[in-house]
Amino acid sequence: MNLVLLGPPGAGKGTQAERISALYGVPHISTGDIFRDNLKRGTVLGRRAKEYMDRGELVPDEVVIGIVRDRLAKPDCEKGFILDGFPRTAAQADALKAMLADLGKAIDHVLNVQVPEEAVVERLTARRTCRSCGKVYHLVFDPPAKEDTCDACGGELYCRDDDKEETVRARLREYEDKTSPLIAYYEGEGLLRNINGAAEMDEVLRAIRDIIEA
Ligand code: AP5
Ligand code: MG
Ligand code: ZN
Repeated sequence: MNLVLLGPPGAGKGTQAERISALYGVPHISTGDIFRDNLKRGTVLGRRAKEYMDRGELVPDEVVIGIVRDRLAKPDCEKGFILDGFPRTAAQADALKAMLADLGKAIDHVLNVQVPEEAVVERLTARRTCRSCGKVYHLVFDPPAKEDTCDACGGELYCRDDDKEETVRARLREYEDKTSPLIAYYEGEGLLRNINGAAEMDEVLRAIRDIIEA
């Protein structure tokens, strides 16, 4: 099961990827999570990525592509993978196709999770993320049992630096300019599946499962 989750910031890519990963036992690969993990560990990569992330801009292709190539070659990807937030440019999509061909693999579905812009802003400004395990919450739609505390690990919840409204708007512009052309790209490849991401989380998951199990 080789999946790509495509969609604007806040579409629910990470939320759904976590659930699909738990259901089918395939790894969830989020390039944004890899950068945040590097930042937490104080690596050069983390510091370099942060400069772009804080402005709501994409990290350069050559940086991202190498990371994904290494990750997809790991043994836990034998059964499949869920790519969340990669590819985001035409160059990344071309690179992905080539690296999968080298590994004797191909994408099964590109799930295009669609949500209106205003819903995105509402979702991201009230999102909270666990500092320890990365689990994602929403103050209204998916609140933790205890305020500011992760249900899964007891870690502290924080608001991502790039979830300020102004940065969210910049990320949306970047998505429109550089990532949204991939919708036509994957439509041309016959891989695109549209998902209504504005529905409730369980309903979105059901729609995704229907596609996977069809
Ligand atoms: P990344 O971390 O990937 O951010 P993003 O794509 O902007 O997406 P988000 O993580 O913000 O949203 P999501 O779709 O995962 O939504 P979530 O499930 O959390 O990337 C960050 C940065 O890293 C980029 O800006 C860039 O700088 C860099 N980067 C990463 N990959 C790159 C690449 N390939 N190339 C270059 N640069 C790259 O949900 C959002 C909120 O909504 C949560 O609070 C959740 O609880 C809630 N929610 C989810 N689903 C629903 C629902 N159905 N109903 C109501 N609420 C919901
Ligand atoms: Mg995410
Ligand atoms: Zn946690």
